[in-house]
Amino acid sequence: MGSFFYRGFFVFSLLILLEGATCRLDKEFSVSWAVDHVRFFKGGHKLQLTLDQNSGSGFSSKNKYLFGNINMQIKLVPGDSAGTVTAYYLSSEGSNHDELDFEFLGNKSGEPYVLQTNVYASGQGDREQRIYLWFDPTKHFHSYGVIWTAQHILFMVDSVPIRVFRNHKAAGVAYPEKQAMGVYSSLWNGDNWATQGGLVKIDWSHAPFVATYRNFSVQSMAESMGEDVRAVSSEQWKKLQWVKKNFMIYNYCNDKQRYPLPPPECSMDM
Ligand SMILES: *[C@@H]1O[C@H](CO)[C@@H](O)[C@H](O)[C@H]1NC(C)=O
Ligand SMILES: *[C@@H]1O[C@H](CO)[C@@H](O)[C@H](O)[C@H]1NC(C)=O
Repeated sequence: MGSFFYRGFFVFSLLILLEGATCRLDKEFSVSWAVDHVRFFKGGHKLQLTLDQNSGSGFSSKNKYLFGNINMQIKLVPGDSAGTVTAYYLSSEGSNHDELDFEFLGNKSGEPYVLQTNVYASGQGDREQRIYLWFDPTKHFHSYGVIWTAQHILFMVDSVPIRVFRNHKAAGVAYPEKQAMGVYSSLWNGDNWATQGGLVKIDWSHAPFVATYRNFSVQSMAESMGEDVRAVSSEQWKKLQWVKKNFMIYNYCNDKQRYPLPPPECSMDM
C-alpha cells in the first residue's frame, strides 16, 4: 500500500517534470552541416533545417545514448517537397556501426510522403521498410522516435509502433546493444532516388525547403514508469499489425528478388 502510493507519486511528479520542461535544442545539438542553413529560435526550443540550391543542412546531438525512449517532434517540409529527404537517425561511430533510420521522402504538393526505415547492426543494414503515414506530416508536429531496450527496438510514430526489431542474437542476428548512438538529422537533395524512384526532381523555384523540430526527449528505460519494457505489449502488436496491413508499401522481408531466402529475423518478427 505504502510503496504503491509512493510509486504513484513518483510517476506523477515525473510526468509534471516532462510536461514542464521541453528541451533546449540549442543545448543538446550542434550544427553538423551548413551553419547558415540552420536556425535555432523560440529561445532554442525550436530548430529549422533548410535546403536550397546552395546547400542542405544538418545537426547532431552532443550526447550519446545506449537504450532509452528517444523522441523528437518534427514538422516536415510543406508544399512541394518532391526530391527532398529529411533523414532523422541514431547512429554509432566507426566501422561495424549500429544505426536506426527514419528517412522522410518528400513528394509533390498533395501527394503522400513515404517514411523509409532501416536497421544496421554491426555494420549490416539492407533492411528497408517503407510506409505511408496516416496523417499529413507537414501540417502539425508529430513525434518520431525509438523505444530501444536490450530486448527490442520499436520505431514509434506518435504512440504507434511502425516497426519492431527484436533481439535475435541467439539465432545469430546481430543486435544493437553495445555501442552508444548519437541522434542526427539532415535535410538534403535526394532527387536521384527519393520520389517515385527518382523520376520526380526537386523544383528549385519552390526553395527554400524547411523542416522544423521541437521537444527532443530522452527517457532512460529505468524510469519508464513501471511498464514491463521487456515485452512488446499486445496493444503495441495490434497497432503494428494495423500499420502493416494498411500503410506498408515495401518490406525487405517480402522482397523475393532481393532475398530469395528471407533474413532470419523476418520469420521471427512478423
Ligand atoms: C508520391 O506520390 C506518388 C503518387 O501518389 C506515390 O506513388 C509515391 O509513393 C509518393 N511518394 C514518393 C516518395 O514517391
Ligand atoms: C514532449 O515530448 C514528451 C515525450 O515524448 C511528451 O510526453 C510531451 O507531451 C511533449 N510535449 C509537447 C508540448 O508536445
